Amino acid sequence: MLTELLKVDAEHPDPREIARAAEAVRRGELVAFPTETVYGLGADALNAAAVARIYEAKGRPERNPLIVHVPDAAAARELATWTQLADALAARFWPGPLTLVLPKRDIVPDVVTAGGSTVALRAPAHPVAQALLRAAGTPLAAPSANRSSGISATRAEHVLRALDGRIEIILDGGPTQGGIESTVLSLVDAQPRLLRPGLLNVEQIEAIIGPIARNKENDESSQSLPSPGMLTRHYAPKAALELALDDGYARALELVRSRHRVGWLRFAPADGVSKPFAIDRLRVYVMPRDPEGYAALLYDTLHALDAWGADHIVVDRPPMDDAWLAIRDRLTRAAAR
Ligand code: TXA
Ligand code: MG
Repeated sequence: MLTELLKVDAEHPDPREIARAAEAVRRGELVAFPTETVYGLGADALNAAAVARIYEAKGRPERNPLIVHVPDAAAARELATWTQLADALAARFWPGPLTLVLPKRDIVPDVVTAGGSTVALRAPAHPVAQALLRAAGTPLAAPSANRSSGISATRAEHVLRALDGRIEIILDGGPTQGGIESTVLSLVDAQPRLLRPGLLNVEQIEAIIGPIARNKENDESSQSLPSPGMLTRHYAPKAALELALDDGYARALELVRSRHRVGWLRFAPADGVSKPFAIDRLRVYVMPRDPEGYAALLYDTLHALDAWGADHIVVDRPPMDDAWLAIRDRLTRAAAR
């Protein structure tokens, strides 16, 4: 199969390119598209055969359900048993990087939910995603557009590298802005539960609906992971990634001296500017001190280090407060082997 790369303007995509992609979706084909978080790999969510092809293209375990993307809350209501809480959250955060898990309606094929009785729903904010959803006229099942357990794609090049020859179309709308995946929140039980921290900060959600239940951080027992996709070893670069508790520089140099190719993700100094630099077997990336800026660069940096052939990645440990929850989650998983 030939994978076609269609360049589109991120803000004002050409309706003709969108129409081509939408027709492909309606034929049951796979179309990767940018969202405000990461690139998604989309198929018609109401076409079970098309959705099955997503699992195949990604090498995704069959028990890991997919997020269904909709243009808005009205479209979401047709797919799930909607609640007042869902309404309040959608009114405040949609379109945006929040995924809501609710009891599914019969119209949603079992392959989408991995046989489960709930469905994950999200209205993405990206103009290209919105245009594609509206032109296709059908909800899109779309996991992140990477091979299973690889790093999510934040650029069309990453999608192409991972899925070339396995999918029909990639809509290239440039790099995604958010850089990490959406926050997944279950509304199935009386108390809302955080299934996956993500781009939308938990503090912002709690400001609207009060405290939400969470798993203990770094809890690795699979029984306590209600989101089956939250396998510990996930989001992993090819290199061995480790979190430096104190001095990342010393650790990075130690690895370089034992002849490794090393990437070091350090924090920008609090007072002043520091440029990224590279010497021989060491590449240093200066990461922003704010979680949004950090998230926007994290996967992009890991992809760049993989492409360079790093065999070790040392990452300065991020702060311990809630604003950094999603970043800590991704780094901890990337470090788990
Ligand atoms: O930002 C995002 O969420 C991106 C873009 C493309 O929208 N999508 C994404 O999809 O990250 P994926 O498949 O890589 O991650 C979906 C997560 C997985 O952890 C999956 O297990 C969980 O959502 N999930 C999906 N349906 C679920 C359900 N019914 N119950 C619990 N967890 C669910
Ligand atoms: Mg994923």
